[in-house]
Amino acid sequence: MSEIQTLRGEEKIIQKLRALYYSYGYRLFRMRRFEEYDLYAGNKDFLSSPNIITFTDTNGKLMALKPDVTLSIVRSTRDEAGKVSRICYDENVYRVSEQSGTFREIMQAGLECIGDLGASELAEVARLAQLSLGAVSDKAVLSITHMGIVEGFMCGLPQDLRAAAVSGLSARNVSFLENKAQENPQFAKVFSNLAKLCTLSGDNGEIFACLEELGADKKALDELKAVVGKLDGSSVRLDFSILDGMKYYNGITFRGYMDGIPVPVVSGGQYDKLMTRMGRTSRAAGFAVYLDFLERLSEKPGVQPEDKGKMLRVALPKGRLGEKVYSMFARAGYDCPGILDDSRKLIFENRTKGISYFWVKPSDVAVYVERGAADIGVAGKDIIDEYSPDVYEMLDLKTGICRMCVAAKKGFADNTDMTLRVATKFANIAGRYYGSVGREIDVIHLNGSIELAPVLGMSDVIVDIVETGTTLKENGLEVIETIMPISARLIANKAAYEFKKQEILGVMSGLRQIVEEKA
Ligand code: PRP
Repeated sequence: MSEIQTLRGEEKIIQKLRALYYSYGYRLFRMRRFEEYDLYAGNKDFLSSPNIITFTDTNGKLMALKPDVTLSIVRSTRDEAGKVSRICYDENVYRVSEQSGTFREIMQAGLECIGDLGASELAEVARLAQLSLGAVSDKAVLSITHMGIVEGFMCGLPQDLRAAAVSGLSARNVSFLENKAQENPQFAKVFSNLAKLCTLSGDNGEIFACLEELGADKKALDELKAVVGKLDGSSVRLDFSILDGMKYYNGITFRGYMDGIPVPVVSGGQYDKLMTRMGRTSRAAGFAVYLDFLERLSEKPGVQPEDKGKMLRVALPKGRLGEKVYSMFARAGYDCPGILDDSRKLIFENRTKGISYFWVKPSDVAVYVERGAADIGVAGKDIIDEYSPDVYEMLDLKTGICRMCVAAKKGFADNTDMTLRVATKFANIAGRYYGSVGREIDVIHLNGSIELAPVLGMSDVIVDIVETGTTLKENGLEVIETIMPISARLIANKAAYEFKKQEILGVMSGLRQIVEEKA
C-alpha cells in the first residue's frame, strides 16, 4: 500500500491541495501555534469570531492561540513594486465554531497572493479556489461577486438604510427590499435594483447583460467579467448576496460549496481594505479551505438514502401554523398523502412530487435549515430575528401574522432610575430593542407562559408575541410598544440553493402565487 493510501481523508486532501498550490509557484508557510495578541486585537472584524484564546507569556506579553493564518502571512511579506509573494499553508486554527458556539481546533488550508497584483493574479486566485473545490468533489460550485458592484448600487444610501440594504441582499429577501423601496421613495431605484440582484437568473452572460442594463459600476463589472472568463464556466455562479466580508474585501469575493455540505467550504477574495488598515500599500487576495467540514463528505446521510438526494426536504413548524403553511404547499402542487393524519410520524414524502416534509418544533426550523438537514423551511420572523440563522429569507408567506410587543400590567409606568426587568423568550430581540432606545435592562429568559412574570412581580415588562391579544387581556396586561410585525417566512439553506436552485425556485414561485391570490 502506498503512503498516500494510508493517510486519513483530511491528510489526503491536504496533499492534493499542496501539490496544486506548488504547481502554481506557491511556497509553504509554517507558523507556530501562537502569536502576539496585538496582531488580532486590531483586526477583530476580519476574524470569523471575536473570541480568541489568550495566555500570558513568561515575559508578561499577552499571546493568542492563532485564530487565523492570513494576518501572520500578511505580516511576513513586504511591499515592493513589481513583486508578488505567493504563499500557501495548511494549519490548525483555534476559533469558536459558528455552529457549536464553542472553541474548536480547525484545520484550514489555503493561500495568499500579496504584492503588486494585476488582473491575472486575481483570476489565478479565483481559479485556484475553483480547482481546490474540484480536487475534493466533482459536485462543487464557486459563487462569485465583486464588492464594487454592490457598493456601486448602494452608493448614496445613508448609514441606516445601507445596513438594511446589506441585510436584505445577503438574505435574498426580495419583499423586504421592495418594501424599503416603497418606504423610501428617494431611494426607490437603489432598493429595486438590489431586489433585482437577488433574482437575476440565466447563464452568466445573460446576468452580465442585465447588470449592464441596471447600470452596474463599469470598472467592477469588467473586472468580474475578466475573472469569470478565466474560470470553468460550468461550475461558477454570480452571487451578489455574498456580503459578510465587506469591511475587508473590496473586489472579487467568493464562496465555494460542495453538494452534501450545508455551509461554504471555501471563502476568500481580494482584501486590499485589510492591507490598507494594516498600513500596507500592497494589494492582496487569497482564500481558505475549511477542512473540518469535509470530514463528513464521504458519510452516508442518516435518514436520506442516496436515491432521495434530489428530493426537496422541507422543515415545517409543528402545530396550527404548520398546518396552514402545509395547505399552501399543497395548493401550490406539493401535496403529500397522510401528512395531516393524527399520528406521531414526523417524516412524510411524496416521491412523485420530489418533496419530503418534516414536522419540527417551530423554534427549531431555522436550525434544521441552517445545518442543511432541510433544504427549505418555514419559520416565523421572530425566530429568524432572534437566532439570525445564516439562511436565505426567500418569501413572506403573509400567514401566522402577529407582532412582537412590549407589554406590562395595566397602568405600568417605567421608573428609569431602576434597571428594567424584562421577561422574554426573545433575549436578542429585547436586547437590541432596549439597546436602540438606550435603556438598561435585566433579561429574564423564560421558555413559555411569559405573561406570568409581571403578574407575579418577577419582571416589570415582557417582550413577547401578541396575536389576538387574548392572553394579555385575560392576565390584566396591555401592549405598551410594538417592536415589529411578524409573519411566517420561507427560508432556504445557502448551499442547497446552489445545488437545488430550480426545485427551490419552483416551490417559491408556486407559494408566491398562493400568497398573491390571498392578498
Ligand atoms: C404565544 C405568546 C403568547 C400568546 C399570544 O404563546 O407567547 O403567550 O401566544 O397569543 P394571543 O395574543 O392570541 O393571546 P404560545 O401559544 O406559543 O405558548 P407559550 O406561552 O408556551 O409561549
